Amino acid sequence: MSNVIPIKQVDEQNVNYRDVLSAKEIELIEHECALYEIRPAAAIDALQIVQQQRRWISDESLYAIANMLGMSATELEGVATFYNLIYRQPVGEHVIHLCDSVSCWLHDFKTIADHLRQTLKIEFGQTTKDGKITLLPNVCLGCCDKAPALMLDGELVESLTIESIDKLLQRLSGANNA
Ligand code: FES
Repeated sequence: MSNVIPIKQVDEQNVNYRDVLSAKEIELIEHECALYEIRPAAAIDALQIVQQQRRWISDESLYAIANMLGMSATELEGVATFYNLIYRQPVGEHVIHLCDSVSCWLHDFKTIADHLRQTLKIEFGQTTKDGKITLLPNVCLGCCDKAPALMLDGELVESLTIESIDKLLQRLSGANNA
């Protein structure tokens, strides 16, 4: 049976979150809402919950979450845009965020970036043809003493070299073929 959650066509005015979000998503978001004094305070948690289920936040999902939290879609969009680990475009099964801030720039960022782009045959902001890997730039990941660095699916990978990148990509390819 397919796990794909069908996307229903809705807009901000006529959305009812119960028509868009799954029972599991609603239950998890309600749990987070109960931890705060006001429902909009659970905005990031709610975005993360839906993204975990669907990989990214479509307009329909955004409207539904805003409806559920009692806030406007514009307010929620502001939260989603500010938080760069919320994806407003479809992404691959794995997402690589390569740090392009100053310490990493000074520690061979260009070599690492070129190697990733050439090996994956994509530019920043794109996903490989097989839908497996998305490559994104990122501001400082907070481990400047171990530059250059990237984040893969939320996990920090530090002191990058061409060899460690190749091993990482092999691991992803092995995981995908397993
Ligand atoms: S500049 Fe890359 S981790 Fe800080």
